[in-house]
This record gives sequence, structure tokens and C-alpha cells, in this order.
Amino acid sequence: MQKSFRSRALKGVFAIALVSGFTLAAQAALNFTNTITGQPLDLTEAMPEGRDTEAVKKFLATGVNLYLENPTCLAKGKDLFTSMCSGCHGHYGEGKIGPGLNDSYWTYPKNMTDQGLFETIFGGAQGQMGPMYGALTLDDMLLVMAWVRHIYKDDPKDAVWLNPTQRAAFKPFNEKEDHTPPVEQAPVCKVSTANAAGLK
Ligand code: HEC
Repeated sequence: MQKSFRSRALKGVFAIALVSGFTLAAQAALNFTNTITGQPLDLTEAMPEGRDTEAVKKFLATGVNLYLENPTCLAKGKDLFTSMCSGCHGHYGEGKIGPGLNDSYWTYPKNMTDQGLFETIFGGAQGQMGPMYGALTLDDMLLVMAWVRHIYKDDPKDAVWLNPTQRAAFKPFNEKEDHTPPVEQAPVCKVSTANAAGLK
């Protein structure tokens, strides 16, 4: 009795794991790889929450981050960056024990693409740059990525992560002109059809 209940319960858990793993795999049309080892990333390690937002689905299928330069979502990205990244990368990504993230120099050139940046955040790099899949949901990663892109202070022509429309409008970040509201006063973060239309 005990045993059959347990095995049924286990089967249930297994089925859920299979289904959710399967969904993620089906969504991930791109091959995501670890920045250091080049091994495939296991997206099923992502936290259960924040896996099925519109932005995550779009990103896993296309590598396009719908939160980029989306004014309603930047406050959340900033908040996450401040709590999870700035201790090592500096308040505005200027660099500290970790490298600067706000200029056009990348240790790993793949971080110039949003797929590469996601891979580094999800799976980590060397030393102190640990994998973030246990600390941030997939949706949080996209939000924090949008903020990393927003604080870019070099020439917009090197901002290859922006689509041409976004690049034409982009102003290099200047912290003195940062009017991002605190997250509790920010508008609801929505992906708009305008952002969705701005596909690369
Ligand atoms: C405990 C310190 C620490 C924290 C927290 C941390 N990083 Fe890092 N990060 C580093 C170090 C050190 C490196 C350099 C690793 C290397 O060269 O392999 C690095 C490298 C990177 C790189 C590669 C940069 C390049 O030039 O190619 C990116 C991107 C990055 N971190 C993003 C983030 C983001 C986003 C967060 C927050 C979600 C974060 N890091 C949190 C320490 C940290």
C-alpha cells in the first residue's frame, strides 16, 4: 500500500518534470551553451517560476529580448541588478571585482549578443561569476539583461544587441540623467506590440 502510493507519487513527479522539461526544450529553438565549457546548458535547471512569460517564450525561440529599452520594465531590471550584480560589477556596471559591463569591451565577445549574455548569466563564467539559474528566474535574467544593455555608455554603433530602430534611438547611458523610478513606483512591466514588432 505504502509502496504503491509512493511509486505513484514518484511517477507523478516524474511526469511533471518530463512535461516541463519537454516544454522548455521545445521552446528552446536555439542551442544555449556554457560560456566557459561550451557544453549545452540544461534549461530544465531553471527555477519553476518565471518560465512561461511572453518574454521568456520569445527569447528561448528567437534570442530576442522583449524587455530591451522597454521603459516599463527597466525599473525591475535595475532593482535586480542592484541586488544581484552591482556588488561585483559596480553600481552602474562600471566594474569592481568583476569587469565593467557598461562598455564595448567584452572578455567573452559572445556577450555582445543577448543569447551570449543570457548564457553567461545562466551558466556563469570563471571564478566569482557563478551560475545564476538558482538565484534568478529566466524572466528575471531577461529583465536584468535589459538593464545591463540600458547602462551601456559607449558608441551606440557597437550596441549590436539593439535592432536598428532601437540603435537609432539609443542614447549612451549617463547616470546623472538616470530617472528610473524605484521599482515600487514603476509602471507595470508590459511587453508591447511595438517591442514585439522590433524583431531583428
Ligand atoms: C560574486 C561576484 C559577482 C557577481 C555577484 C556577479 N558577477 Fe558577473 N562576473 C564576476 C567576475 C569575477 C567575472 C569575470 C569572470 C571571467 O572572466 O570569466 C564576471 C563576468 C561577467 C560577465 C562577462 C563579461 C565580459 O566581459 O565578457 C558578465 C556578462 C557578467 N559577469 C554579468 C553578471 C550579471 C548580470 C550579474 C548579476 C545577475 C553578475 N554578473 C553577478 C563576478 C560577479
